[in-house]
Amino acid sequence: MQYRPFGPKGDKVSVIGMGTWYIDQGDRRKAIAALQAGLDAGINHIDTAEMYGDAELVVAEAIKGRRDAVFLVSKVLPSNASRKGTRLACERSLKRLGTDRLDCYLLHWRGGYPLEDTVATFAELEAEGKIRSWGVSNFDEDDLAELGEAAEAAGTASACNQVLYHLKERAIEHAVLPACEASRQALVAYSPFGHDDFPRGGSAGGKVLAAIARAHGATPHQVALAFLVRHASAFAIPKSGDARRAAENAAAGDLMLTPQEIAEIDSAFPRGAKPRSLPML
Ligand SMILES: NC(=O)c1ccc[n+]([C@@H]2O[C@H](COP(=O)([O-])OP(=O)(O)OC[C@H]3O[C@@H](n4cnc5c(N)ncnc54)[C@H](OP(=O)(O)O)[C@@H]3O)[C@@H](O)[C@H]2O)c1
Repeated sequence: MQYRPFGPKGDKVSVIGMGTWYIDQGDRRKAIAALQAGLDAGINHIDTAEMYGDAELVVAEAIKGRRDAVFLVSKVLPSNASRKGTRLACERSLKRLGTDRLDCYLLHWRGGYPLEDTVATFAELEAEGKIRSWGVSNFDEDDLAELGEAAEAAGTASACNQVLYHLKERAIEHAVLPACEASRQALVAYSPFGHDDFPRGGSAGGKVLAAIARAHGATPHQVALAFLVRHASAFAIPKSGDARRAAENAAAGDLMLTPQEIAEIDSAFPRGAKPRSLPML
């Protein structure tokens, strides 16, 4: 597994993490085993959110007794992200997760409360040790510019921007990724398999992935993850409720694609023109 510095504080975080959206919907014991299999295979980054139903409770079970080995991320809903509401939401998440701190706390997407208010509370929580760092999600380059000003005014800095990024949706490569790199924020790819839209085996792109996968003794899903984390500041957080697939995803953290293979994937799944607004799920 490759580990990279995550944001300005430089915490060493695995390039492959684990998402938890809908992980509470199936068999809970299986979900806990999947998260533990990912941790056993070298993943240290778990992503959850107050929005994800009981996912925080599932994560709490999975990390019991190994909290210090996990870079734990949760998110506040925009509708709760007021000066006071952010603190209350953080405290609820800490309770559900059975921990006294988050490693990174994110604003899930930009909402109606002034950014300055949310950031001011993030800065307080950071100073109190309730969160080690904070960041955002679904921010485009203009949002990031405003965020930079609010963060500077509060004497703090965002650690990451978590965005939609998969083979069929590469919009962030135009301006968001460069903006994150310039401000030393980690770029975290959510829905790295397209949520439920992974390229089919029989499609032209699927055949390209399969051929590259064969050459490495890997799977097309692993090749897709290796492509997404080829940027020095990128991380990906696939979700799996299955222990075998969680371990498979973790192993993608060791897969190195050649420049030729990257070029083949790039032409099979073109970046496309820059859309007017940032795509999100
Ligand atoms: N910030 C945001 O706004 C936002 C939005 C969306 C998602 N997220 C985060 O990003 C995480 C990942 O995104 P996602 O859950 O939307 O979708 P995803 O990770 O792109 O895809 C998940 C799907 O892929 C399957 N899968 C996982 N590993 C596989 C493998 N190795 N081979 C074949 N299939 C595999 C899973 O099935 P099984 O579970 O059965 O393996 C599931 O159906 C979320 O869980 C969440 O933490 C954040």
